[in-house]
Amino acid sequence: MALANRPDRYGWIAIALHWGMALLLAVLVAMGVYMVRLPDVGFDQVKITLILVHKALGLVALAAVLLRLGWRVGNLLPALVQGLPMWQQVAARFVHLALYALMLALPLTGWWMSSAGGYPVTFFGWFELPDIGPYNEYWFHASIAIHRWLGYALVAVGALHAAAALGHHWVRHDDTLRRMLPGR
Ligand code: HEM
Ligand code: HEM
Repeated sequence: MALANRPDRYGWIAIALHWGMALLLAVLVAMGVYMVRLPDVGFDQVKITLILVHKALGLVALAAVLLRLGWRVGNLLPALVQGLPMWQQVAARFVHLALYALMLALPLTGWWMSSAGGYPVTFFGWFELPDIGPYNEYWFHASIAIHRWLGYALVAVGALHAAAALGHHWVRHDDTLRRMLPGR
């Protein structure tokens, strides 16, 4: 199977980025929801460690989506499977765009939240990233809520997208899912 996309299927790079990111985002959401529910008393070590790892993995997700967008723009975009009604063609492209927007907005609001709260963003403590906004109590609390709701939106839109892909495979019996899987 080729590295690059073909007119009728995705290539290795797009497939690896798609499934690698799906896994990473699932881990980030589960971790985020779990860690914020841990008690603050004494700010226990587990919570601090999970937040540190969440932030670093969130930065990996940001780098991966930038790479993915670069690959998408510089590469051929496979056409959707033949014979889809117009509303499904529009819905599919719209949902893909919404997913890209969410994949960008989530790490950026996470980073912004840390800057607004006066917390450093480090990559596993190896090096520190610059602030992307001023310290501001109001925006700190607002960005937490925005980051949370973007996370819920990612789950909702991602579930809709996955259900549509599985529906194509099992109900419509077309090539939609196979085009995003390794193989011929
Ligand atoms: C695609 C990447 C990311 C996803 C999907 C994600 C998802 C989430 C989710 C679902 C929560 C739990 C929200 C809640 O239930 O209240 C959360 C919390 C959090 N995230 Fe992220 N996140 C991402 C990237 C980042 C980044 C890059 C940072 C910082 C550099 C960050 C910092 C935080 C912090 C500090 C919290 C805890 C907020 C609180 O104290 O309530 N996140 N994240
Ligand atoms: C079980 C979960 C998932 C399944 C079964 C699935 C399946 C697919 C399939 C079959 C395609 C190709 C559609 C086509 O062009 O014909 C696709 C594309 C895409 N998927 Fe997923 N996906 C899943 C999870 C996710 C997640 C979690 C995200 C991101 C949040 C995501 C983002 C995308 C994007 C952005 C595209 C468009 C790629 C492009 O053309 O650049 N997917 N997915």
